[in-house]
Amino acid sequence: MQLLIVGYTGKMGIAIQSLLKQYPQIEATGLSRHEHLNCVSNILDTQGIDLILDFSKPDALGSYLPYAVTHHIPCVIATTGYSDEQLLAIRTASETIPLFYSANFSKGIHVLKQLIKKMNDLCPEDHVDLTDIHHIHKADAPSGTAKALIETIQTGRAQALSVISDQTGLRADHELHLHVSRLGSVVGEHSVIYSSELEAIELKHTAYTKTNFAKGALDAAVWLMDKEPGYYTMEDLYGNVSK
Ligand SMILES: NC(=O)c1ccc[n+]([C@@H]2O[C@H](COP(=O)([O-])OP(=O)(O)OC[C@H]3O[C@@H](n4cnc5c(N)ncnc54)[C@H](OP(=O)(O)O)[C@@H]3O)[C@@H](O)[C@H]2O)c1
Repeated sequence: MQLLIVGYTGKMGIAIQSLLKQYPQIEATGLSRHEHLNCVSNILDTQGIDLILDFSKPDALGSYLPYAVTHHIPCVIATTGYSDEQLLAIRTASETIPLFYSANFSKGIHVLKQLIKKMNDLCPEDHVDLTDIHHIHKADAPSGTAKALIETIQTGRAQALSVISDQTGLRADHELHLHVSRLGSVVGEHSVIYSSELEAIELKHTAYTKTNFAKGALDAAVWLMDKEPGYYTMEDLYGNVSK
């Protein structure tokens, strides 16, 4: 499989390259930001790319997605921080090509989401807090992972929770309190705490290394190759174990 990596020179691009020896079926090529805007269609035209894997910046999307749709090239998109309009463009593209999107390619975060669904069933009245901790160079806050966890927490609650990130007074019912920190070189830490006045349960995921995300994205790329057009997520790759 001939893979084009968008964001080849970035931290995740380098993590992907260091894992490629474990995927002998993949040959990869890539472009940095400066090369990308001018060269993407040349590379796509001349090198017979089978799949595009994007770990870059949101503004790279428009430079390859229309081409991928026109030429039926499957895409795995891992970049975070997209606008609603860009997320809609991703959804629309998936009507024509196989498209895998996840704000977090860690299997552990997928498992955490399944546990959250269970907690929503078991503790529907509890207060919920979410912590989102990443390194100081992270461009977006809250993280794409935090937004995805909020969506999972919200789904299945009888009453919608308002997300509060700057609490100043008394805590009201039906609030989800979000605590964002950008600290040192933390790869990623997310905790979801369900609490009543009597007790609390904390679900915590710690990513030790970026290799974790790189492996998930490469597994998704291999898995996506023979799929029909559609919008695929980690639940399709690893299954939904909530029930
Ligand atoms: N889904 C997940 O599991 C997951 C996990 C980790 C990170 N991420 C996300 O992945 C993205 C990249 O993270 P990173 O830590 O690797 O960032 P990074 O180190 O800043 O690297 C960004 C890369 O994107 C390239 N780039 C920037 N703007 C571009 C453009 N307009 N067109 C094409 N390429 C462009 C950069 O090229 P230059 O070197 O030329 O600037 C660089 O190669 C972020 O959105 C991050 O949140 C997702």
